[in-house]
Amino acid sequence: MSEINGDCAHSVVKSRALLLSWYDSNKRTLPWRDVGDPWATWVSEIMLQQTRVSSVLEYFDRFITRFPNPQTLAEAEWDEVASLWAGLGYYSRAKNLWNGAKQVVEKHNAQIPSDPKSVRALSGIGPYTAGAILSIAFGQEAAIVDGNVIRVFSRLYQIEEDIKLKDTQKRLWALAEAWVKGERPGDLNQALMELGATVCTPKVPMCLLCPMQENCQAYRTSDPLKYPVKSKKKKKRPIETYLALILKRKSHQLDKNTEQYAVFQRDNVGLLGGLWTLPMINYSPLESPQFNDYLSFFAKEVEPDQGVTLTSKTKVKHAFTHKEWHLWPILYDLSGQSTQCIQELESHLSLSFGDIQWHSVNELDQLALGGPSLKALIHMGITLRARRGAGR
Ligand code: ADE
Repeated sequence: MSEINGDCAHSVVKSRALLLSWYDSNKRTLPWRDVGDPWATWVSEIMLQQTRVSSVLEYFDRFITRFPNPQTLAEAEWDEVASLWAGLGYYSRAKNLWNGAKQVVEKHNAQIPSDPKSVRALSGIGPYTAGAILSIAFGQEAAIVDGNVIRVFSRLYQIEEDIKLKDTQKRLWALAEAWVKGERPGDLNQALMELGATVCTPKVPMCLLCPMQENCQAYRTSDPLKYPVKSKKKKKRPIETYLALILKRKSHQLDKNTEQYAVFQRDNVGLLGGLWTLPMINYSPLESPQFNDYLSFFAKEVEPDQGVTLTSKTKVKHAFTHKEWHLWPILYDLSGQSTQCIQELESHLSLSFGDIQWHSVNELDQLALGGPSLKALIHMGITLRARRGAGR
């Protein structure tokens, strides 16, 4: 690796010292930082994947208070784990953490292992998280490469190649491995990420505050905003779907507290697996046999003008890593319908969705509700107290 040989190796030693001293004076105080607890490192690093520090703070505190070690998490029911994760999104992370905690209890006597092979074997732990746990919690010279580190190195070394390419990834990991060697490897990794998060930011880098400005090739010779070089993403074709808010009331009082919505739990596999969701009804702009089925059911069984009460004119967008959904919320208010009509609708719905449950808004708040449903409820003016951001 040309940039880490000879003179450049010398400049790594110098830049490393500058970076660590910058970190000592500028690091944010974070609840998982400097606590010497591998569990706190593990939980925080999983939460921080694809989520900003500011969003993670509240979730981390709640989660770590309820599950202060792997044993407590391993013994918990999934529904409780998911509800404490609700709003952070990407529930597969929580599921992997839960499974990883069980492996720690079963195979490592409830103690998080410190050898790289055992750490890597835990559920949900890839090279990044392993590097974070090994360096931050156990002081080992284990490299990490995340989006922040990529941006810092891409600018520092003016890396012109697409960061998605295998060779570029290799180059970035080689750089991270060279940088982590030396004193305080955990702090060094955190300092690189911290610099990327607070100074060497994607859109408005604050180069004048950067401790490595002098050595930064992008700063000296060109435009830091050009880096990292990324190939254009292919535009995802969205999937259009109706999301049905089916509402009935526990009593005839027109009180918000009596409202209940139909939800069902997804199978434990795939996208949003195991989470609760509002019924989704496929949609095609021109023709939708499945949706027409429901409409004709309503037309037949429900008193005129009392079925579909509100169709949102605007859609809710929900992006996954590899696909995007356009959700069209539609409200069916069944207040005033006969018990028989509601029962028939339930059996009709259960053919497509399995067992439907009815829950009040307060109860929905406690459920592990998938991000799309959460967003649709909020879009229709139904606010859930405990949720801030809608998750994925
Ligand atoms: N992003 C992810 N993990 C981080 C850490 N430990 N410090 C700063 N930023 C991070």
